Amino acid sequence: MGFLSRKKPKPAPVEIQEEHPIVDELQEMEDAVPLRDVGGGPAGPVSDAGLSLAGESSASSPPAGEAAEEGPSEFVVEEGPSEVVEEAPALNAEEESPEAEGDGRMKAIDLIAPTRLDFLAEKEATEQAPVKAAEVIAFANQKGGVAKTTTTLNLAVAFAESGYRVLCIDLDPQGNLTMSQGIDPDKVEKSLYDVLVNDMPISEIIVKREIDIAVASIDLAGAEIAMSTKIGRERSLEKALKEVAGDYDFVCIDTPPSLGLLTINALTAANKVIVPVQCEYLSMRGLVQLQNTLRMIQENLNPDVKIEGILPTMLDSRTIHAKEAIEILEENFGDLVFQSRIKKAIKFAEAPVKGASVLKYDSDSSAANYYRDLAKEVLSHGSP
Ligand SMILES: Nc1ncnc2c1ncn2[C@@H]1O[C@H](COP(=O)(O)OP(=O)(O)OP(=O)(O)O)[C@@H](O)[C@H]1O
Ligand SMILES: [Mg+2]
Repeated sequence: MGFLSRKKPKPAPVEIQEEHPIVDELQEMEDAVPLRDVGGGPAGPVSDAGLSLAGESSASSPPAGEAAEEGPSEFVVEEGPSEVVEEAPALNAEEESPEAEGDGRMKAIDLIAPTRLDFLAEKEATEQAPVKAAEVIAFANQKGGVAKTTTTLNLAVAFAESGYRVLCIDLDPQGNLTMSQGIDPDKVEKSLYDVLVNDMPISEIIVKREIDIAVASIDLAGAEIAMSTKIGRERSLEKALKEVAGDYDFVCIDTPPSLGLLTINALTAANKVIVPVQCEYLSMRGLVQLQNTLRMIQENLNPDVKIEGILPTMLDSRTIHAKEAIEILEENFGDLVFQSRIKKAIKFAEAPVKGASVLKYDSDSSAANYYRDLAKEVLSHGSP
């Protein structure tokens, strides 16, 4: 009735007459509200002793007063006494419900939504249940063309082959990972740009292919600038991943060849970092810079992130230079260098053209097995 009183300015109060029709109506409504069945038997009609929804209304009078203020004719025309009376049997039918238990009169919530509280209890229980978080691996090296994308995709597919649930994140505006799964980044409507800049739920941009993939589009190139004024800009991806953390065992993030805000987002969201390194002297020099960035992330944003391993890629084991490059890596990084080696193979260039991983493109090839071996090595370090 409150909304009725907002319809027009309050007229002067009108004294309620005993024979006024609203009094009979209210009495009928009171009679219609069942008592709680204290003794287990059917609920009875309203008694004076029973504190009630209707009893409170009539005792404290404001609804009757408001109705009187509005004028009885308006109330009767809008609500209609017959409507109110028709509802009464429906309420009485609720009396026989086993839910009508407890002390005193039934509350409004029992009548309107008797199962509401059960639902809330269930929801609370679900929310409190621990969600197993995915292992988040970032593939990073600010040097271009060292097989970050190739490693992200093929290792992810090797995990999936072993029965793990895997999500790949294409955080590179070049969209190479997206393309490697046969999706054209130029035709993508919703992408990680919307997730990072506009807080779109990441589930809305996940596309199912060999693995699930959160896709990139060309406008991701503008994300770093668009995010630059955002509070918590380094944590946008970490925040977005919480939505799906329980749905996957591994989240594999491909990063661009830079140490900008997109890569920082990846390193902040990650538990582990895999650093693909081309087995050439010049490729290894950038590792010091990457280590410094990672230290900064550990100190300021993500103390738990650590290097899972340094992965020698595009290895041509016939050359002395490649052998020497691996020796230098192992001298400087010791156990951090994976035992697995990714040798050069033309299949790695061919597979993306077909929109497939090497494991799908040529499942029995040694190229596919390089990444199966790497998956075993990563899992041996501790599976999720
Ligand atoms: N083991 C390999 N043998 C031969 N070619 C490879 C191998 N791994 C990757 N490639 C090829 O090298 C090129 C660069 O690989 P990829 O795109 O994975 O590198 P990237 O580090 O992601 O590059 P960017 O820094 O531009 O993102 C690709 O054409 C890829 O097919
Ligand atoms: Mg790449």
